[in-house]
Amino acid sequence: MTHPFVIAPSILAADFSRLGQEIAACEAAGANWIHIDVMDGHFVPNLTVGPVVVEACRRVTKLPLDVHLMIEKPERLLDVFARAGASHLTVHVETCPNLHSTLQQIHSLSVKAGVTLNPATPAAMLEPVLHMVDLVLVMTVNPGFSGQNFIPEVLPKIAQIRKLLDGIGSSARLEVDGGVSETTMPALIAAGADTFVAGNAIFHHPNGIAAGVAALRGAVPIL
Ligand code: DX5
Ligand code: ZN
Repeated sequence: MTHPFVIAPSILAADFSRLGQEIAACEAAGANWIHIDVMDGHFVPNLTVGPVVVEACRRVTKLPLDVHLMIEKPERLLDVFARAGASHLTVHVETCPNLHSTLQQIHSLSVKAGVTLNPATPAAMLEPVLHMVDLVLVMTVNPGFSGQNFIPEVLPKIAQIRKLLDGIGSSARLEVDGGVSETTMPALIAAGADTFVAGNAIFHHPNGIAAGVAALRGAVPIL
């Protein structure tokens, strides 16, 4: 089923001692995907989770698992993450000198292929591979941590990528990640984003996870 607007809670902001329950709460609240941030302490200055946690998430939810690989040489681990149950594998253009081949590798694993750009990386880096991606993820913070401030300078790049996708008739999702909240969502939607990763706004909402998802849903004009 395709959704006009996808809400993807990022478990980076979840209480890992209750991960199963927190994911269940997201699913019950109507979240569409679960976003899992994999960090290696090299490409980004933080270290998080690996395939074992993806596999654990796979057992507690039916929602697609949107796995964001903030790791060097992601091509070495794609098959492991696919076997763990990833639905989407998203790689950073900054870590993939052989991006075309890496995306082919993801597709050969029967997983949806995503490509992502840091805030300072230009949209032009994507153009040669845009026709072969299922998802473009635009980072709206510098990757590494939940709870950072949204970087508004990225908005024109989102609009530019929207145009490029529409120009080739692509149905790839245009996802944004970092500082997404009910406050920042209207500008993101206006720029053309359709898929919203949110950590802090959901897991640290003062009234709980369901209220966090509902607040983001409320920021979407037609849902
Ligand atoms: C940042 C991660 C994000 C992060 C988003 O490197 O990729 O997914 O968890 O967290 P918030 O929504 O709190 O900015
Ligand atoms: Zn992420």
